[in-house]
Amino acid sequence: MPDYRSIVILTGAGISAESGLATFRGPDGLWEGHHVEDVCTPQALARDPELVHRFYDERRAKLAQVEPNAAHRALARLEREWQGELLLVTQNVDDLHERGGCGQVLHMHGELLSALCASCDGRREWRDAMPPGSACPVCDARALRPDIVFFGEMPYQMDRIDAALRNCDLFVSIGTSGAVYPAAGFVQTARYVGADTLELNLDPSAGSTYFHESRMGPAGELVPIWVEEVLAD
Ligand code: APR
Repeated sequence: MPDYRSIVILTGAGISAESGLATFRGPDGLWEGHHVEDVCTPQALARDPELVHRFYDERRAKLAQVEPNAAHRALARLEREWQGELLLVTQNVDDLHERGGCGQVLHMHGELLSALCASCDGRREWRDAMPPGSACPVCDARALRPDIVFFGEMPYQMDRIDAALRNCDLFVSIGTSGAVYPAAGFVQTARYVGADTLELNLDPSAGSTYFHESRMGPAGELVPIWVEEVLAD
């Protein structure tokens, strides 16, 4: 194992699958017969706010019934024990990385447990249902929406992610299909700067060929093994 100094990790829905949260494009990937691409858009929110708010209310409520798994806990161990630079970027909007013990998590697609005001841009922790037209606790406008990055919107903190990718010597992708950009392009940025690239996934992702190494299997098994390897050096 080379002596890495800077690691960027990208996680997707697959890391939370063993906790019982549905992925987007697997056999369980439909919600009430809708593709996620049809529900998670600004147009869908404008056209049918009840449907979109219900989609997120149900996923927010589901979070309270699930627990982090061994993969989440292994990344928290890496964060605690590894001495190099580490950036954990997740496409997931659940809080399982945090509940698994990670202190620094970059949610590039937003968070289920956060509410965003479309009027004042204020954000607040939000753990309950959010009926359409809920009042913003900051400016009182009835303009609260889930703090989720919809298709067609810019993911959060892209400059910070890009800088970390250009400075890393290892990029690890865990539990993502590589179906959605810009996250799906991170591996190419890492390769461009000469970083090693590793994929830990149940099935080969769309970008598998870009990875120097791909290990197939459940994250709950693969991630603790990989973390042990990194810490053993
Ligand atoms: N362990 C590891 N990988 C797994 C597991 C598991 N137990 N179960 C499923 N996977 C893998 C699947 O093989 C698949 O490649 O996780 C991936 C899940 O892919 P998606 O459902 O497409 O989820 P993700 O890649 O996170 O989607 C990216 O798309 O819908 C948008 O914004 C949403 O953040 C999401 C983005």
